[in-house]
Amino acid sequence: MQLEGFHAVKHALRFAPALVEQVVVRDVEDARALGAQLAPDVVDRLLELATVGPVAHPTGVEARAARPTADRTVLTSRNAPLVLLDDPRHPGNAGAVIRVAAAAGASGVAMTGRLDPWHPAVVRGSAGLHYALPVLSVSPDDMTGPLLVLDADGDPFTHLPSNAVVVVGSERAGVGPELRKRADAVVGLPMRAGVSSLNLATAAAAALYAWRLQV
Ligand SMILES: C[S@@+](CC[C@H](N)C(=O)[O-])C[C@H]1O[C@@H](n2cnc3c(N)ncnc32)[C@H](O)[C@@H]1O
Repeated sequence: MQLEGFHAVKHALRFAPALVEQVVVRDVEDARALGAQLAPDVVDRLLELATVGPVAHPTGVEARAARPTADRTVLTSRNAPLVLLDDPRHPGNAGAVIRVAAAAGASGVAMTGRLDPWHPAVVRGSAGLHYALPVLSVSPDDMTGPLLVLDADGDPFTHLPSNAVVVVGSERAGVGPELRKRADAVVGLPMRAGVSSLNLATAAAAALYAWRLQV
């Protein structure tokens, strides 16, 4: 896995240091200064692994890291919500969901459909926070637990149970029929009249932070 930029490398070093195989920096002193300023907890390890070479990213830091084996136990047992993206199309949106799921303390992010959750553009969008929680491909049959579908036209959202799967639909089609059929509830986040929907990452963020602020 290629990690582009200081923040992605920092997150991999912080959450899964054993998986980081090689770091390339444009200039050692610049990397040391950036690390001291933004991530003093990982700067020593970053410099230990670093070799000097050409780096395209503006921060002057890149790395190679192994992809972890996804922890699939979150599909059946969890004490924080699991986000399920139903067939997301835009890698940047999927990455933004992984980033907010990591920040809010979700138990993982699962995805149906064709988008590889570890596609480099998704990893770019998450700033490397793939290394902070399980990120996996699933089919609707894999899901257990209370299934809460997010839909702008759903019943009013009240709260997100800690063991729930919160299902967020794709950019154009929303949540597909297979997951709707399995839903325990279909709920909507309130919006001002005239606004048709939120971006999917924004909807995931609102639901996760409603949970986070309540626990
Ligand atoms: C851009 S929206 C999809 C819009 C799509 N045209 C539809 O019919 O659902 C992407 C996803 O974000 C979530 N979402 C967007 N706005 C929402 C809202 N106000 N309440 C709950 N979920 C919302 C839903 O899961 C939705 O499937």
